[in-house]
Amino acid sequence: MEYFVVKGTHDVILDEADAYTSIEEILRSHADSYGFREFRTPIIENSQLFLRSVGDSSDIVRKEMYTFLDKGNRSITLRPEVTAGTIRAMVNNKLFSNQDFPVKAYYTGPNFRYERPGLGRYRQFNQFGVESVGADSYLRDVEVIELAYSSLRLLGFNDVTIVLNTLGDEETKENYKKALLDYFKEHIENMCSDCKERYNLNPLRILDCKVESDKEIIKDAPNMMDYLSAASKARFENLIAILDYLEIPYHIDPTLVRGLDYYSESVFELHYVSKKGIDYGAIGAGGHYSNLVGELGGPKLAGVGFALGIERLYNILKDDNSLPTGRKIDAYIMPMDEKMNKTALQFASVLRINGFSCEVNLEGSSLKNCFKKAERRGATFALIIGENELANESVMVKKLKTHEQTEVKLDNLIEYLDAASFEDANLDEFEEEKIIN
Ligand code: HAM
Repeated sequence: MEYFVVKGTHDVILDEADAYTSIEEILRSHADSYGFREFRTPIIENSQLFLRSVGDSSDIVRKEMYTFLDKGNRSITLRPEVTAGTIRAMVNNKLFSNQDFPVKAYYTGPNFRYERPGLGRYRQFNQFGVESVGADSYLRDVEVIELAYSSLRLLGFNDVTIVLNTLGDEETKENYKKALLDYFKEHIENMCSDCKERYNLNPLRILDCKVESDKEIIKDAPNMMDYLSAASKARFENLIAILDYLEIPYHIDPTLVRGLDYYSESVFELHYVSKKGIDYGAIGAGGHYSNLVGELGGPKLAGVGFALGIERLYNILKDDNSLPTGRKIDAYIMPMDEKMNKTALQFASVLRINGFSCEVNLEGSSLKNCFKKAERRGATFALIIGENELANESVMVKKLKTHEQTEVKLDNLIEYLDAASFEDANLDEFEEEKIIN
């Protein structure tokens, strides 16, 4: 009996896993350069956490959570997102007590949503995200939007579309909800069953409906911008002015409401269509939250953050042939006879301790096959150990790019490889320059 992955999940292995690691490393070190610190919170959380934060009117809580009772009869949920857990961790660990704001966190890892699997949509997927909490200023919102934008540029996404909106403050949201209830009152009977529920739970959600006939009705709904309080309007205008100053392109969409309840003021989504024209859905999204920390038992502090979908980033970079370079090894060691195997293992150990990655052929493959394997692994050097080399306490080093071959005494091997690697890196740079020019 063969077993397969659970619907909506996928194995991330080999080149794909290498690419995820490279993507995450770039994102981590970039967030690090802004002073964000890593948070690794549990994948299981008490279900109540998501009801309080993501919200009971959201599709995530209503339909998509993996929730179960554990053996102690506690309601546990596999996290559908990381913001709630990160804020919980900040509150539990009293990170707001020394008033050193903002507290800046970044995270990466799996999330679980029982969604209909489709293009770019999985039931287990990975996110990289950040949260900047405690300093309630539109400038911190800008900093986070700029971080999202520059992270994507670093990964090679040059034409990201930032879709931006403001949900305003609590006063704005309440006034706007009333206006929506008024408008939809005469239409709701003819709308989908989801919208009927949304009408009672949170009419803002109706704006997110994807049903064509509902979209027709939604397009004439009242515009959020007309209901903004003076403070929210000024805040949004200030935010936009700085984005303009920083030359960060954006597009304002007053129907962008986001699928999670904790947002207020600015919200945004990041979009990118692959060169093949494939749209995997938003590659990232985020926004400002005024009440989340308080809702989760902390002081009344605001925050802002975003999360990027690693699967979607990977799919696009793969389509565009722009994946960060895969894993390569420095050396492939080729013992020419069984009796050289132990010497080869010894060499490998010395090389690795000195910082060179290598693999050893222990299967007695022919020289031709050994070279094929070395090429497939992206090796820079082939290290051949034959009868002569064994007798001479040496190794034959072949540079795979130039095919140059030199017999090197064991005592000099590390020194030789150090110098030759430096030369090889320079050769790569020279080749790159030739392509650019
Ligand atoms: P979200 O919009 O639910 O926001 O998810 C952020 C990103 O995760 C999406 O833009 C998408 O790239 C990816 N994503 C979401 N669902 C799936 C799925 N089923 N399959 C593949 N990728 C998916 C949040 O999660 C918020 N916590 C973001 C945030 C952080 N807001 C403030 N701070």
